[in-house]
Amino acid sequence: MAIAGVVLVLGLVAGFLVWSKPMDPYVKGVLELTGDVDRGGDIFLMNCSTCHGFDATGRVGPSLQGVGDRKSQQQLIHQVVSGKTPPMPQFQPDTQDMADLLSYLQTL
Ligand code: HEC
Repeated sequence: MAIAGVVLVLGLVAGFLVWSKPMDPYVKGVLELTGDVDRGGDIFLMNCSTCHGFDATGRVGPSLQGVGDRKSQQQLIHQVVSGKTPPMPQFQPDTQDMADLLSYLQTL
């Protein structure tokens, strides 16, 4: 019983830490903007289509169809800017470009 109590408390603390983590200012900046889907599509063609295909159905990288349903906005931003999943490179779009790209990804 004591162990269950400790596990429960640790779980609550961990949950609180994740929940209370302040949002990254870059992510916050992106989410405050309204993305332009057409501009986002152009950015996608120039930067992403070599790997994900012109219609985002996948080449070297996976198909991105329906990716907006699978991933949250924050996960999508993280995917683009983190560089954590090579061979996908790390991109550093300014917040407006990222907002545009995000709005395009959500139409897929
Ligand atoms: C050099 C090839 C390459 C380029 C360029 C590239 N990607 Fe990727 N991308 C990948 C690969 C490979 C993966 C799979 C990574 C993994 O999960 O291991 C991926 C994964 C993703 C995912 C996650 C898909 C999912 O279903 O979880 C998203 C979203 C994504 N890329 C978006 C983009 C966007 C937007 C761009 C342009 C800014 C881009 N990628 C440019 C290769 C690339």
